[in-house]
Amino acid sequence: MQNNTFSGLFVGQNIVSLKRIDSTNDYLKKQLAKSKPLPEGTVIMAEEQFAGRGQFDNKWISQAGKNLTFSILFSPSFLQLSQQFYLNMAVSLAINDVLCSFIGSETKIKWPNDVFFGDRKLGGVLIENMVRGKQWKHAIVGIGLNVNQDVFVDGIKNITSMSVVAGKQFSLTDMLKQFCAAIEKRYCQLKNAEFEPLHMEYQSSLYRLNTLSKFERDGKAFLGEITGVLESGLLELRTEEGIDHFGFRELKYI
Ligand code: BTN
Repeated sequence: MQNNTFSGLFVGQNIVSLKRIDSTNDYLKKQLAKSKPLPEGTVIMAEEQFAGRGQFDNKWISQAGKNLTFSILFSPSFLQLSQQFYLNMAVSLAINDVLCSFIGSETKIKWPNDVFFGDRKLGGVLIENMVRGKQWKHAIVGIGLNVNQDVFVDGIKNITSMSVVAGKQFSLTDMLKQFCAAIEKRYCQLKNAEFEPLHMEYQSSLYRLNTLSKFERDGKAFLGEITGVLESGLLELRTEEGIDHFGFRELKYI
């Protein structure tokens, strides 16, 4: 089903709602490979994904009809490849903006782009980039948010939903509108080259910022304090040995 009832300029103007699909990111990727070009801001949403994907090759499991699982097409060719992490910042901030306004300021961004309430995960983002030569052609921004799910599969720890936190259910259509509008606003900030404010706000919204916490690298636990994130996306920690930087796959929060 297709409609275009959203009030923003482009995010969600073309929205494809699917009942059941493997993964909205994969569906969007396949559509993109077809000859008919898709407008930037196209949103693919699904009531149910049977092969939803998360970061680091994890599965994304979400109860059918209860949550938001959607992917947005962007064409950020105005950014250099070295600026890719700014899209992560803009999208994570947008999600956090909406969550803050609906369920309170305890929501934080867990680097690189999870959203947390307290110590529990509310959702995550999987960005897949398409690059041609030195040009960033497309980004598929896949977002999974636990909205109305109250019961979670055994074995998945530290997870929550907006409804568990707020004690009430939310309209998925309204929430999707809110997220699309917020993402468009933050994306426009990126287009306006407002890099510094995005970077500053992203850093100040970080989960466990300036808090002594336990981490693990190469199977070894250590104590450190998150002090910021570099433009490149590396996480900066102050450890007993001084300031150190970590890539996505290098560090585990414990
Ligand atoms: C993570 O936290 O690991 C990222 C989760 C991203 C899940 C979303 S749901 C919509 C889109 N389609 C997918 O297969 N994955 C993303």
